[in-house]
Amino acid sequence: MESTLSIIKPDGVARGLVGEVIRRFEGAGIKIAAMKMIHMSKQEAEGFYAVHKDKPFFDSLTDFMSSGPIVVMVLKGENVIKKNRELMGATNFKEAAPGTIRADFATDIEKNVVHGSDAPETAATEIAYFFSQLEIKG
Ligand code: CMP
Repeated sequence: MESTLSIIKPDGVARGLVGEVIRRFEGAGIKIAAMKMIHMSKQEAEGFYAVHKDKPFFDSLTDFMSSGPIVVMVLKGENVIKKNRELMGATNFKEAAPGTIRADFATDIEKNVVHGSDAPETAATEIAYFFSQLEIKG
């Protein structure tokens, strides 16, 4: 059984897409093992996206990610990292496959509705950034 971190970003929460995103996860057989709504400070967003600190979009991304509430979730299931990435679609919504969350709802490369961990190591780090072991079911 694998775990991954999912974030419904400020654009997704503001646009009322929380239920829609969760419906897609549950419809794909993915279990939600932990979930909460938080509002990150700029500093917390910078910490989360530290791997991107040298990218030209870092300042704008961390402004956006601290601009409103987000929903953070731990997803569990077989191959859930890959499954979640398939449900999300490509980072750039213009390249996302039809029927994916980003193809259906993203409005630009930054405001792309969801985030998902890209590998087991990043999943472990990202989950630990938001959740303690006691908050995770199963
Ligand atoms: P995410 O999967 O959360 O990982 C990094 C985020 O940076 C990405 O989704 C986008 O929201 C944002 N971003 C903004 N511009 C770019 C870009 N040119 N390439 C990749 N990610 C970008």
